[in-house]
Amino acid sequence: MTQADERAEGLTGLAETSLGVAFLRDLEHQRADRLFADPFARLFLDAAGDVGASWTNVPSGPAGLGFIDLMADQVAVRTVALDTALLEAAAAGRTQVVLLACGMDARAYRLDWPAGTRVFQVDFAAVLDFRTRALRAAGARPRCEVVDVATDLRDDWGAALRAAGFDPTARTAWLAEGLVYGLPSVAADGLLDAISALSAPGSTLALDHGEDGELLRAARTAVSPDFTDLWQGGPRTELDVWFRRGGWAPLIRDIGLVAVEYGRPTPKAFDPRRAGTGRGWLIQAMRQPLPAGDVPQGLAGASAP
Ligand SMILES: C[S@@+](CC[C@H](N)C(=O)[O-])C[C@H]1O[C@@H](n2cnc3c(N)ncnc32)[C@H](O)[C@@H]1O
Repeated sequence: MTQADERAEGLTGLAETSLGVAFLRDLEHQRADRLFADPFARLFLDAAGDVGASWTNVPSGPAGLGFIDLMADQVAVRTVALDTALLEAAAAGRTQVVLLACGMDARAYRLDWPAGTRVFQVDFAAVLDFRTRALRAAGARPRCEVVDVATDLRDDWGAALRAAGFDPTARTAWLAEGLVYGLPSVAADGLLDAISALSAPGSTLALDHGEDGELLRAARTAVSPDFTDLWQGGPRTELDVWFRRGGWAPLIRDIGLVAVEYGRPTPKAFDPRRAGTGRGWLIQAMRQPLPAGDVPQGLAGASAP
């Protein structure tokens, strides 16, 4: 067992970051003006006990902003935007959905999927076991067919996905949320190559990406020194080049502009008016060639490479 496997076993390290996202989703769920409802986030945090409780807002850095201050609006906006992207893709016939590094993503339980939708949830075995136990204990029922795929995304996860029943000839709606910026560039390239190799033309890929910044780095360290180097940068090239080289036509939107659409301020970690921040994006891409007349609404502006 590698060091990373050992850390994943106890829902710490990489796996624990999924509880950080759950913490942020629960905060949004509690707002009167919430952008989405996710009652499952609190369920996961309660099941995690002390580990879940470590995600508090410790003020840090020169601006005195904690991780929650910096990331709350990013997670709120990305969640609802990616919900929409997936539902549109599924409504247009991509009823095979893959949630890569799903963590505590409860979309299979909270979204209104078209009949026949099959959602593959991919993450470490320890993460999937944890979430399954928590959901079962609460009597939660999925709103689509759910297939868990326990694997390590650094290994041949495509083989694990196919063994679980994934059909590479069918159009797929992929999600890679909260994942790409945590990968070194070589791993990010490898991830896109693997997704591309499994994607029939017309498949969609939705993800968020963001640059690290001094404020975010200080805030992660304040939560735990284990998280200081969590941001590994992701793709080395410009995002549109990265997608197009892999055969994808991307629609890349600045997170601040997407936030405006939902009546939210630019997420603090990605606000260019603030010193010590980076830029953040939401991306929807479609695998080429585009089948005629079959472009999900959100991708109408995406041009061919
Ligand atoms: C920041 S969380 C995001 C979770 C989820 N996508 C969301 O947005 O709520 C990152 C997730 O990636 C998973 N992960 C990281 N490295 C992985 C790997 N090598 N193989 C499988 N899962 C991995 C972690 O276990 C964790 O659940």
